[in-house]
Amino acid sequence: MSDQPSPYGNTKPTTRVRIPHLKQMKIEGQKWAMLTAYDMYSAAIFEEAGIPVLLVGDSASNNVYGNDSTLSVTVDELISLVRAVSRSTRRALVIADLPFGSYQASAEQCFHTAVRFMKEAGAQAVKLEGGIEMLPQVEKLVSSGIPVMAHIGFTPQMEHQLGGYRVQGRGDDAQRLIDSAKAFEAAGAFAILIEMVPGDVGRAITEAVSIPTVGIGAGNQCDAQVLVWQDMAGLRTGRLPRFVKQYADLRSVLHTAASDFAREVGEGTFPSPEHTF
Ligand code: KIV
Repeated sequence: MSDQPSPYGNTKPTTRVRIPHLKQMKIEGQKWAMLTAYDMYSAAIFEEAGIPVLLVGDSASNNVYGNDSTLSVTVDELISLVRAVSRSTRRALVIADLPFGSYQASAEQCFHTAVRFMKEAGAQAVKLEGGIEMLPQVEKLVSSGIPVMAHIGFTPQMEHQLGGYRVQGRGDDAQRLIDSAKAFEAAGAFAILIEMVPGDVGRAITEAVSIPTVGIGAGNQCDAQVLVWQDMAGLRTGRLPRFVKQYADLRSVLHTAASDFAREVGEGTFPSPEHTF
């Protein structure tokens, strides 16, 4: 790590970031950033940049495997990616997303899937989507020693049930989300991810619980913020969700590098003598 000011505020973990560090940051009002990561280089770079928590999201379905929704990705496909991220980091807390169909059936199914991510891939926590119907799953994991992040608001695995990508928690529905967050806290979840809700609802949930909230399209009052890394770095094309901010134009950088390479090969100027044995 560099000599830059600590992104953890007064909470400075010397080894792997753990759940108590995140709780302490909430107490100290220290906001933090989470990014998705799916491979060795991105994970190592983000950790070095001071990102304390990396999520191997089921968004790998779209951003790695080229599917058009998160529903298609399998446990086996995600396990390989989680393994790469946990092997290539020493400090960031690595969270594995439980994919669609791998935990909803029962607390036991959820437990067996989560155990695979911990044992086979080295995840240190898991994330699951849903409302209070997921409380038995959360209780089972927590009582088995598996830290759980609950994902509420817009839950992409339910996109067909929810009628597409829509902001949740408007009007009276806000109270349902606040109640779910409190119930997840009582069940032992270590954090709540809140996706696509009005900013005042993100704030109300954050104030209602003592565990950290991580927002994506949930306003700036959450304790932490998450983005999909390819969105953050400007790899993605097309219409972007309103909550995305691009901090770089990596697509242009890679495009230029690849076309320069192709041109030099075509011209016969690569490899030059310095790249030749
Ligand atoms: O899978 C994912 O990328 C997510 C986002 C909400 C961060 O769950």
